[in-house]
Amino acid sequence: MSRPSTVPTGAGPAGPQIVTIDGPAGSGKSTTAAVVAERLGLRHLDSGALYRALTLALVRNRIPSERWPHLDRGELAALDLRLDPTRGGFEVLLDGAFPGAELRSPGVTEKVSVLARVPEARARLLELQRSAPTYGGVVADGRDMGTVVFPEAPLKVFLTATLRTRARRRLRQDGKEEVPLAVSEESARIHERDSRDEERAVAPLLRPPGALVIDTTELTFEEQVERIVRAAAKALGSAR
Ligand code: DC
Repeated sequence: MSRPSTVPTGAGPAGPQIVTIDGPAGSGKSTTAAVVAERLGLRHLDSGALYRALTLALVRNRIPSERWPHLDRGELAALDLRLDPTRGGFEVLLDGAFPGAELRSPGVTEKVSVLARVPEARARLLELQRSAPTYGGVVADGRDMGTVVFPEAPLKVFLTATLRTRARRRLRQDGKEEVPLAVSEESARIHERDSRDEERAVAPLLRPPGALVIDTTELTFEEQVERIVRAAAKALGSAR
């Protein structure tokens, strides 16, 4: 895909070249962030992958989830988790290797929101996330990118869509049929995750102040990408 010539690259000499995209589960943050990053010539930082990788590290080390809230900084720092810059984004390395599909396994998906509530775990991942822009500009997606991790980002986006729309998209993404029962069940699962993300005491899912809020229910994927790319060209241009 070609990059518009007016848009700065990640290696801008002044001003943070950072776009944040937050939103609830199934709002399409990661897919959108990846394409926006590609169009802007920036790297995509998928912060959810870091939460998943830390969860997997604890599971592999056979540390039961009841102990996770009590882990101290030293124990978390001892887990070998790194961000490796690639051409378009980052690979999360666990013990020096890319964990691949295991990050999205049902076992990890089920436990990751437990980890996301642990302040020490969030602190461990904060450092890694904040190291990402040292390699160049980023489009970072997650739940607290604009509120906690990169509050200084020139453009903060908050994506929303109705619960049913998000459930349908998730089913489609997973190659499942969008029959009414499946949509209801997936809606219930997403609603449960939304509540956990919104109600946790530490870094809850919030609209960042000054965010561009985009309701994608009636938008095509291309339309939502276009809106963000246009806003980024303006915001990052003026941040240089
Ligand atoms: O976006 P995802 O489904 O890969 O995120 C996995 C989990 O991590 C989800 O429970 C929310 C949590 N998360 C978070 O708390 N903060 C972030 N910045 C990213 C993800």
